[in-house]
Amino acid sequence: MSSLRVVPATAERLASLSSWFPTPEALVQWGGSGLRFPLDADQIGRMLAETTTEPPLRLAFVGLVEDEPAAHAQLVLDWTDGIARLARFAIAPGHRGHGLARPFLGEVFARLDDAGAFPRLELNVYTFNTPAIALYESLGFVREGVRRSSVKVGNARWDTAIYAIIRDR
Ligand SMILES: CC(C)(COP(=O)(O)OP(=O)(O)OC[C@H]1O[C@@H](n2cnc3c(N)ncnc32)[C@H](O)[C@@H]1OP(=O)(O)O)[C@@H](O)C(=O)NCCC(=O)NCCS
Repeated sequence: MSSLRVVPATAERLASLSSWFPTPEALVQWGGSGLRFPLDADQIGRMLAETTTEPPLRLAFVGLVEDEPAAHAQLVLDWTDGIARLARFAIAPGHRGHGLARPFLGEVFARLDDAGAFPRLELNVYTFNTPAIALYESLGFVREGVRRSSVKVGNARWDTAIYAIIRDR
């Protein structure tokens, strides 16, 4: 695997992000139904604005491979209850299947530990997303339930699985 460098997300580093999600369905699979297709600089700007609040409501990272953005993930932080939610995680299409996902998330979770104590680490994933589910389960995430028919995408409705890890930190 080529060397991976994890850095904070910036508008410049996320300039190519929109091209990772070529259809409305791909955008919702990554970012949820609250986003408008196509992803644009305004929507990215609103996500990044939450990384500069005090304390930050969101952490956002980019994984660079040979200086090219190859991975992206965000962590939404609930400081009251010590809950971090992994959100908006993707490997760039041209870099998928190369074993980047686990080392990238390992770095992202290490940055979370640097930010504070978040004993509960959770995420939502659509139940059809077999690659993501296999990855999360391999990392120890436990399925807690399914919110059936919870998202409307065109004429379809998708089920959302809720996963979490309870961590000793
Ligand atoms: C899910 C995603 C991040 C996986 O990235 P990737 O680069 O393919 O993953 P890696 O090559 O690093 O593989 C890591 C693990 O993912 C799982 N995985 C990846 N592709 C898979 C596939 N086609 N089928 C089943 N499991 C798969 C496996 O557990 C794999 O580990 P293994 O190779 O030891 O079996 C990628 O498919 C993606 O970006 N999807 C679009 C965005 C998305 O759905 N994000 C998740 C939102 S919840």
